[in-house]
Amino acid sequence: MIDWYRWLRPWLFRLDPETVHHLTLNALDWAAKLGPLNPVRQTFPSAEVKVMGLSFPNCAGLAAGLDKNGDHIKGLASLGFGFIEVGTVTPRPQPGNPPPRLFRIPQAQALINRMGFNNQGIDHLVANLRQLDQRDFILGVNLGKNKDTAQEKAAEDYLLGLEKVYNLADYVTINISSPNTPGLRDLQHGEALDNLLAQLLQRRQQLTKHWGKRLPIAVKIAPDLTEAELAQQAAIFLHHGIDAVIATNTTLDHSSVESLPHGQEPGGLSGQPLSQKSTEIIHQLYSLLGEKIPIIGCGGIFSTKDATAKFEAGAKLVQLYTGLIYRGPGLVGEVIKACATLK
Ligand SMILES: Cc1cc2nc3c(=O)[nH]c(=O)nc-3n(C[C@H](O)[C@H](O)[C@H](O)COP(=O)(O)O)c2cc1C
Repeated sequence: MIDWYRWLRPWLFRLDPETVHHLTLNALDWAAKLGPLNPVRQTFPSAEVKVMGLSFPNCAGLAAGLDKNGDHIKGLASLGFGFIEVGTVTPRPQPGNPPPRLFRIPQAQALINRMGFNNQGIDHLVANLRQLDQRDFILGVNLGKNKDTAQEKAAEDYLLGLEKVYNLADYVTINISSPNTPGLRDLQHGEALDNLLAQLLQRRQQLTKHWGKRLPIAVKIAPDLTEAELAQQAAIFLHHGIDAVIATNTTLDHSSVESLPHGQEPGGLSGQPLSQKSTEIIHQLYSLLGEKIPIIGCGGIFSTKDATAKFEAGAKLVQLYTGLIYRGPGLVGEVIKACATLK
């Protein structure tokens, strides 16, 4: 595939990041109408991976946050992803934080964002999912809580999300690790995590009976955890038997970029500075979970080498976000190649 993105990127990077976000996604939707934009699927027809009881056509996924409302699923799928995770979606629409809230740090190949779950609400996403016809990729929905939902009622938001997308998604992700919703990360620990998962799994049992389908539940964690916190989390995950862990979300540790322009903007840091840290978390998590709960690796994947490091640390699948912004869609094929070669 011609690396047209290398030519386009300097022009795109002159514009405001959120403007480029909308421009490129709309352009992608139009281009995808002409047919698949990336022939990687044809190049690696046997890259299938079985995780959470699902058959993923390949190991490369789109991470949550790029298509929060599910408005661009077809365009994004045409890039060759084996799975697409839409969201984070909350029960009610909310505007997120005031702009500017997304910053590039090109010197470090990084982004800082404090979007704050800007999204059009679960009903908008559900309407989009209903319109999808036959698909040849796995679809995940990443669920969150509204900013103005009281912390003690957080579980209700996730339960509502689970119910609304139950028969439309292939799996759901419980996002308790975004740094831009006050209190959200508190749900990652001890009793709060235990209670949340107990309620979700109980509701899933009822929904399984109702729909005749068991929907896998993944949990997305932060990279900013001590060894003891991670061990406690792993024990709770094993106790409840969740279906997967996505490691990781963005980091609050800005030490590697603080001297660079925008490096001190409040928000979650993603991209290259996160790469090693998220791989370490995957490694530690794998030593705690073994083969009992699969890990989906995410954080700073920019190359075949980065993806291979995640697989070697124990990940079964990977997800991309910031690497796509810096490297363009050609990265999807490189990642598929990495796992097809490792198989
Ligand atoms: C602009 C932006 C928005 C994001 N929004 C979400 C989100 O809504 N939900 C979520 O779970 N993760 C969100 N993320 C985190 C990514 O899914 C991913 O976990 C993180 O960026 C690390 O991967 P990366 O280094 O490949 O970007 C967002 C990341 C960015 C850069």
